[in-house]
Amino acid sequence: MTSAAYSAANCTLPASVDPAAPILLFDSGVGGLTVLEEVRKALPLAPVIYAADTAGLPYGTKTEAQVAARVAGLLGRMTERFRPRLVCIACNTASTIALGMVREVLEVPIVGTVPAIKPAAAMTRTGVIGLLGTEATIRQAYVDRLEHEFAGDKRLLRHGAPGLVEAAEAKLRGEPVDPALIRHAAEALRMQPDGDRIDTVVLACTHFPLVEAELAEAFGPEVRFVHGAQGIARQIARLTTGQDYSRQVPDLALFTSAGAVPDAYATKLAQYGLLRIERF
Ligand code: DGL
Repeated sequence: MTSAAYSAANCTLPASVDPAAPILLFDSGVGGLTVLEEVRKALPLAPVIYAADTAGLPYGTKTEAQVAARVAGLLGRMTERFRPRLVCIACNTASTIALGMVREVLEVPIVGTVPAIKPAAAMTRTGVIGLLGTEATIRQAYVDRLEHEFAGDKRLLRHGAPGLVEAAEAKLRGEPVDPALIRHAAEALRMQPDGDRIDTVVLACTHFPLVEAELAEAFGPEVRFVHGAQGIARQIARLTTGQDYSRQVPDLALFTSAGAVPDAYATKLAQYGLLRIERF
């Protein structure tokens, strides 16, 4: 599993940054934890706020206008309240739809998450790449541009797999993953023309690495997976080079939906170092 999909930040960081200023990671649900995991490895001392727009989950079945409005509105309010040093949109759907717009309005460096088509194109031997994303992500012009730029001489087969978002959320809650959801995603790629020649699959949704083991079983040993988490963490580390960190309060998870966060969820969040949970 390798990675290198990220997009450049929008502005240069100020010379001096408050050491307590957090890095804010944003997703519709728990998918961004796959990015947080890599950020922890790269920047273990960095204070983090993990924000999940669970009231808007899933993004993948929403319209572009709905996703853009939620992402811009929430990030506007969150950056005002928490003054992060950097925002990472740890969600392919939100990034491919709203990254440009959010960068235009927020005065904080923003790192996006975009499908790892470039590394996949370098990895494939058969020249046939599968791409699993949300339904909203796979129809974006952003993905067309990445395909054109990096995989123009390859075959890229796309499939929108909302069931995998469901499976990943269930797994994080400690519930069993429905094997039919996994099988369906694998078959939907395999059954497309040339699908039998896929040797590399882009996990173009931050939720999907959470079910990579299940996907690997469904696709078989000859298929390799690629996603952007390590590349994003490297990009964040690069953009914050030379900055000091001081964690003065335990790291925080924000949820936008009403109601208590299930215990199983809270236990998992604690494993990612998110020891406080609040509603936003
Ligand atoms: N984790 C998100 C992504 O990377 C999307 C999941 C959803 O809300 O549909 O695209």
